[in-house]
Parts: sequence; structure tokens; C-alpha cells
Amino acid sequence: MERTTVLITGCSSGIGLGLATRLATDGGFKVYATMRDPAKGERLLQRLGGRCPDTLEVLQLDVTDPRSLAAAAHRVQGQALDVLVCNAGVGLMGPLETCSDQDMKNVFDVNLFGAIRTIQAFLPAMKRRRAGRIIVSSSIGGLQGLPFNSVYCASKFAVEGLCESLAIVLRPFNIHLTLVECGPVNTSFLSNLQCPDPDGSELQGLDAETRGLYRRYLRHCQGLFRDGAQEVEEVLQVFLEAMGSPCPPLRCATTQLLAPLARLRLTDGSAYVQAMHDFVFGRGEAGGDQP
Ligand SMILES: NC(=O)c1ccc[n+]([C@@H]2O[C@H](COP(=O)([O-])OP(=O)(O)OC[C@H]3O[C@@H](n4cnc5c(N)ncnc54)[C@H](OP(=O)(O)O)[C@@H]3O)[C@@H](O)[C@H]2O)c1
Repeated sequence: MERTTVLITGCSSGIGLGLATRLATDGGFKVYATMRDPAKGERLLQRLGGRCPDTLEVLQLDVTDPRSLAAAAHRVQGQALDVLVCNAGVGLMGPLETCSDQDMKNVFDVNLFGAIRTIQAFLPAMKRRRAGRIIVSSSIGGLQGLPFNSVYCASKFAVEGLCESLAIVLRPFNIHLTLVECGPVNTSFLSNLQCPDPDGSELQGLDAETRGLYRRYLRHCQGLFRDGAQEVEEVLQVFLEAMGSPCPPLRCATTQLLAPLARLRLTDGSAYVQAMHDFVFGRGEAGGDQP
């Protein structure tokens, strides 16, 4: 049986790890599970019973490093890559005034330029074969602004624009591009992201009202993840559908959690801002530095 060849970025944890495990155990796929530190591949091998099946190859790939991308593309050369999953991503939370240049650049380097570099590395071969799928891990935050996530949202909004533009050109090449819009998912994402302590020294110069709003946002966010986060397995279903469908949609949502707010945003941006404010901070409250 001919196997579907899939390359996934960011397989050391979370969605990438789950997807690589699922596909490698299926038997119908050859999976190139990539990660910036292949030593972290131990988790993947453990999930597969401690040995590397012939359906799996772990490759080093840092999406911010063009040489690493070139080496991975070289390794896969001649393997007729059917599906490319651009999944690697990082988060950044906090008041915009306190985001460092370095942190902001890193978010864009991984989330936007990392996805661009990855697509650039594998797209020419897909175009020559006039076949392929590109699936990108996007976010609710790529479709609507979320408070205290401005830089992360900016990077995912940029990914949305990138992919929508590219999808138009890929039509005649029989290459389908799908953005998977994730809501909160139970992964290491929250613990991995840059997120200053509202009472720490990083926010010392910040006004008390914004610090209070931020503190309340963090509580809201923790509650949202505690009560509303999806498990990785549930989200993987959406990736599998995008892989298996003869004509997958440009956008697939993993959750309807914020769908009413997303619809409101499209019809009335100002009403969306008010509604999102009320959703996170409560109706009619001015903010303030509440404990
Ligand atoms: N979990 C959520 O709630 C959520 C919500 C919306 C969207 N998403 C999106 O889903 C995707 C996967 O996130 P996740 O939830 O699975 O979080 P995660 O567990 O933190 O996984 C992120 C992955 O990206 C990798 N990565 C970071 N920088 C990289 C780089 N320079 N090169 C290659 N890989 C790199 C990480 O590898 P290291 O171990 O090397 O850091 C890790 O494997 C991301 O694009 C994220 O934006 C997640």
C-alpha cells in the first residue's frame, strides 16, 4: 500500500507530538516528525512503545534557521511529500508597552516567518508534482483580537493573510491549503509562552489600571483553559479531516467556543471590541487595579 508522506514541524510537544504519534501508528503514513531539538524525540518514541517504527523518522528542524530547513528539505527530497503541516508556534502575552523587541521579533520569526520559510522549502517540489496539502496550525487569535495577546494575534493574523493569498495561487497546482483554527487546547502552549508576572519587576513601570486588567485577564484565561480547553485528540480529528478530504476548506475551526464573537467582529468591529471587553472583564466595569 502506498503511504501518505507527511512532514510536521514542532513535534516535541502538544499538537505536533500528538499528530506525529497518531499518524505513525496508523500504518498508512510515513511521518517526518521534526523538532528543533531531536533529543526531545524521546517523548514521541516513548508513546510509540520505545522504538522507532519504519513509519516514522525524527528530523532536526528549527523553523527560524534556514540551514536547518534546507537540511530537512534535502533529507525528504525524492520522497514525494504529500502533506506539510506547519505547526511550530510560540505565544506571547502581556501589556503591549512591556513586550520586548526581542520577544516580539521571536514570535514573528517562529509563527510567521517560520511558516513562510517552511512553505518555501517544500512548495517547489509539491508544485512540480502538481499535488499536495499544506495544513497550518492557526488560532482563534488569527481571526479576532484577544486582549493582552496583541503581538501573538498580529503574527497569526499575518499567517491568515499569508495563507489566504497563497491558496489562490495554489489552486491550479492542485495544492490545498488549510488553516486549522485552534481555540484553547490542553498542551504545553500556556506554560511555554512568554507571560510576565503582573506583580513582577518587568511591569514595574506600567500604570496600575492596565496591571489590574492584565491580572484579571490572566484569571479569565486560566478559567477558559480549565473549563473550555480541548484535548489534543479532539483537535487532531480536524487535522485528519483536512488531510483526508478531497477538497478541504481553507479554514477549519476546532471549536465553536468564540464563534459568536467572531461573527460579530465581521459585522461590527466596535461592537466586537465592547463584547470581548465584557466577556473578559465583565459588563460595565471600568477596569481598575482590583486584586
Ligand atoms: N494550545 C493552544 O491553546 C493553541 C491555541 C491556538 C493555536 N495554537 C497553535 O498550535 C500550534 C502548536 O502549539 P501547541 O499547543 O502544541 O503548543 P506547544 O506544546 O508549546 O508546541 C509548540 C511546538 O512548537 C515548537 N517550536 C517552537 N519554536 C520552534 C522553532 N523555532 N522551530 C521549530 N519548532 C519550534 C516547540 O518546540 P520546542 O520544544 O523546541 O520549544 C513545540 O514543539 C502553535 O502554532 C500554536 O500557535 C495552540
